[in-house]
Amino acid sequence: MSNIKILTIICLLAIIFSNTVSAGSERDEFISPIPVNSDFDKAKVELGKKLFFEPRLSKSGFLSCNSCHNLSTGGADNLPSSIGHKWQLGPINSPTVLNAKFNIAQFWDGRAKDLKDQAGGPIENPAEMASSHADAVSMLQSIPEYVLFFKKVYGIDKISIDQVTDAIAVFEETLTTPNSKFDKWLQGDENAISEQEKAGYNLFIEKGCISCHHGVGVGGESYQKFGVVKPYEKDTKTLGRYNVTNKEEDKYVFKVPLLRNIELTAPYFHDASTWDLGVAVMVMAEYQLGVKLSGDEVEKIVAFLKTLTGEQPSIIYPILPPSTVNTLKPTLK
Ligand code: HEC
Ligand code: HEC
Repeated sequence: MSNIKILTIICLLAIIFSNTVSAGSERDEFISPIPVNSDFDKAKVELGKKLFFEPRLSKSGFLSCNSCHNLSTGGADNLPSSIGHKWQLGPINSPTVLNAKFNIAQFWDGRAKDLKDQAGGPIENPAEMASSHADAVSMLQSIPEYVLFFKKVYGIDKISIDQVTDAIAVFEETLTTPNSKFDKWLQGDENAISEQEKAGYNLFIEKGCISCHHGVGVGGESYQKFGVVKPYEKDTKTLGRYNVTNKEEDKYVFKVPLLRNIELTAPYFHDASTWDLGVAVMVMAEYQLGVKLSGDEVEKIVAFLKTLTGEQPSIIYPILPPSTVNTLKPTLK
C-alpha cells in the first residue's frame, strides 16, 4: 500500500474519533492552530522589518523583499512570476512569506534550510535584487543610523551579511496569521465555521488532501511529486527537488505548499497555471489522488480553504534612514 493510502486510512479513523472532542477544548486533528506568539526580540524585529522593506539592498535601489512578498497582498506578489532587476521575469511563482517559518525548508525545491539561509539568496540573485552581499553590507555601513541599529541589536561596529539575514529571518518569524475561522473551530468554537465549510474539511480528509497538506501550515512538512497518479505535463522544465538531490525520483517533486491564506495568493502552483482556487483543487484531486470531484465537492473544499485565512500581520510602514554621500548609488546596469 502506498504511504498516501495508509495516511488516508489513518486520517479517516481520526475523523471518526475527532467527533468525540468535548466542546471548548482543542480538537485533536491533523491540522493544528497557529500559536499566538509575542515573545520576540523587539529591537531585532524592528531592524529586520526595515531591511525587509529596504530597496537599497537591491542594485536598482528599487526592489525590496516586500516588492515580491507584498505584506498588503498576502505576502506574495499575485503575479505568475516575479519581476526582478531590469524587469526580468523570474522562472517560478513567488510563495508567500506569511507563516513561512512552518516550512521544513525554504523555496519550492527546499534548497535553503531555513529563513536565515534563504534571505541571503534574493539579494545577490542577478534576476531578483541583483546586488552582492558586499555591496549590500557597504550600503548599510555607509548609513550611520544603520550602524547604530546593528550596534544596539548585535553589539558590533562592522556589519556583516550574517546579521542582515538573521534580522530579516527574525522579522519573518513574526509574520504568522493566527485566529483564522478554522483555527477558532479547532480551538473548540463549534460555530466558527459553517456546515458547508465543515463539509469541505471532511472532504479534504476523506479524499486524501490531508495526507500531504497537514500540520500548522496545512502543508510545508514534506516533499511530494506534482503528478503522483498522472504526469503533470503543463510544465516539464522545472525539475523541483531534483535540482538539490540529483536523484531521478526527485524529478517534479516540490515542497508541499502551505494552504494558509491560500485565497490571498493566486495564481496557484509553481508555474502559476491557474488563478482559480476551484481549478487548483480539481487539478490536485486529479493529479495527486486520481479522483474526479463534483462541482459541489469543489465548492465545499474551496469554502473550507477560505476559512484558513488568518489575521494578517499589522505592519507599521517603516521609515528608513537617509543615504549619505558615501552610499552606493543605484544603477540599472
Ligand atoms: C524579484 C522578486 C523577489 C524578491 C525581490 C524577493 N523574493 Fe523571495 N521569492 C521570490 C520567488 C520567485 C521565490 C520562489 C523561488 C524558488 O522557490 O525557486 C521566493 C521565495 C522566498 C521564500 C521561500 C518561501 C517558501 O515557501 O519556500 C522566502 C522565505 C522569501 N522568498 C523571502 C524573501 C526575502 C526575505 C527577500 C528579501 C531579502 C526576498 N524574498 C526577495 C521572489 C522574490
Ligand atoms: C501527494 C501529495 C498531495 C496531495 C494528496 C494533495 N496535494 Fe495539494 N499540493 C501538493 C504539492 C506538491 C503542491 C505543489 C504543486 C506545484 O505547484 O508544484 C500542491 C499544491 C496545492 C495547491 C496550490 C498551492 C499554491 O500555493 O500554489 C492547492 C490549493 C492544493 N495543493 C490543494 C490540495 C487539495 C484541495 C487536495 C485534495 C483534493 C490536495 N492539494 C492534495 C501535494 C499534494
